[in-house]
Amino acid sequence: MSRQPLTFVCQNCAAVFSRWQGKCDSCGAWNTISQEMASMPVSAGPAKAYRKGRPLMLHPLAGADDDAPRTPSGLMELDRVTGGGFVRGSVLLVGGDPGIGKSTLLIQAAAAIAHAGHRAVYISGEEAVAQVRLRAERLGLAQAAVELAAETAVEDIVATLTEGMTPRLVVVDSIQTMWTDQVESAPGTVSQVRGAAQLLIRYAKRSGAAVILVGHVTKDGQIAGPRVVEHMVDAVLSFEGEGTHLFRILRAVKNRFGPTDEIGVFEMTSGGLREVANPSALFLSARDLGAPGTAVFAGIEGTRPLLVEMQALVAPTILGTPRRAVVGWDHNRLAMVLAVLEAHCGVRLSGHDVYLNVAGGLRIQEPAADLAAAAALVSSLANTSLPSDAVYFGEISLSGTVRPVPQTAARLKEAAKLGFARAFVPETARGEASDPGMALTTVGPLKDIVGEFAAKDAEREQTQPTDTE
Ligand SMILES: Nc1ncnc2c1ncn2[C@@H]1O[C@H](COP(=O)(O)OP(=O)(O)O)[C@@H](O)[C@H]1O
Ligand SMILES: [Mg+2]
Ligand SMILES: [Zn+2]
Repeated sequence: MSRQPLTFVCQNCAAVFSRWQGKCDSCGAWNTISQEMASMPVSAGPAKAYRKGRPLMLHPLAGADDDAPRTPSGLMELDRVTGGGFVRGSVLLVGGDPGIGKSTLLIQAAAAIAHAGHRAVYISGEEAVAQVRLRAERLGLAQAAVELAAETAVEDIVATLTEGMTPRLVVVDSIQTMWTDQVESAPGTVSQVRGAAQLLIRYAKRSGAAVILVGHVTKDGQIAGPRVVEHMVDAVLSFEGEGTHLFRILRAVKNRFGPTDEIGVFEMTSGGLREVANPSALFLSARDLGAPGTAVFAGIEGTRPLLVEMQALVAPTILGTPRRAVVGWDHNRLAMVLAVLEAHCGVRLSGHDVYLNVAGGLRIQEPAADLAAAAALVSSLANTSLPSDAVYFGEISLSGTVRPVPQTAARLKEAAKLGFARAFVPETARGEASDPGMALTTVGPLKDIVGEFAAKDAEREQTQPTDTE
């Protein structure tokens, strides 16, 4: 049996090369290729290479399993994102920046599962048992019946877990620290992470325990090293937040057993992560009432309405090329809204820097935010504030009209609940909400709303004449 040759593996995407190179041809990353022992497939040792197949037992599709397939954690915001709880035998990857609160969230989840009378195991590869205990104490969970271990050898972990009753939940914090004997590369390399994940996934499928793998995220937002792991697991959740804000958002990036558009909202407190049942109130709590350039967007995240403030700053360009910067929204959407404002509404922005920010660090993806973004932009350019009791939603088409968006009634209901008195909506919206609870202004062509501003601007100039012209 000859020894496997050395290979060069991209630590970002796991592409394999026969010699070292500075740039990965597969994912385009620089300086990510390092030398590894060629990883052997985890189970196929040379002796078994020509093994004959073994007949499997086939099950009928119709048929009920005795056990409940899901175990809810009891943390509503977490259960919302997983789709109603942890699925038996499934593997979930939770990614996020270091320090964002992954360990905190998962020790809280493990404690909740234990509290419900199930076996929950927490394996830490990064901290000693005493450190995990210290955190639990701070969170008021010192008495929770969670079983702890500080270990990084996957074979030992699986052997330990196989003893006794199958746990309902196993947390492995983090997958980057795990290593297996079956792969010869150093811990932390892609091959090791993949090998370790493979063994833990096999354990989950065989035993029926739900396994959560924690993964650190690199600066550019990838789960470090094991992007390959993302494809191996059943669900990938990302835990996000802005450093300066206290709230955290849990988002499903991939989910074989549930929706991928739901978010869970938490607030980081000294006593741990607190669930935020009414995120709109939180996101609007620090509103800058009456400032030009802000508009409240009545959005939907998954099944839940969510109100957020969009803030725009439009200022004359000083240097040659105008700047476009967006935080929390899509660059291309902003470019499109700007183009429509230029082409159909006579709003000249090519000599202006444009900044757009979704307040509070939330990231939104809905095209329904177009109208709120446009309103905030025009408001900033005209230096005129929008009515502070109004919300906006509607998608803007390339032809400059405001198009209908789903879930009008839910958006309006949430806005009315939070005290808003009017809404700027697509034309079809009037028929969709029988009792909107507020005044509706329908917007057909986008230029109507811009025209209103121009009129206001002119009015202002008449009442307080200035010599700027
Ligand atoms: N004594 C403390 N009081 C309040 N917050 C703390 C305390 N210790 C740590 N934290 C908070 O918990 C966060 C660390 O959370 P943790 O779950 O360990 O993150 P991760 O596992 O994602 O790296 C820190 O960023 C900090 O904000
Ligand atoms: Mg941690
Ligand atoms: Zn690569």
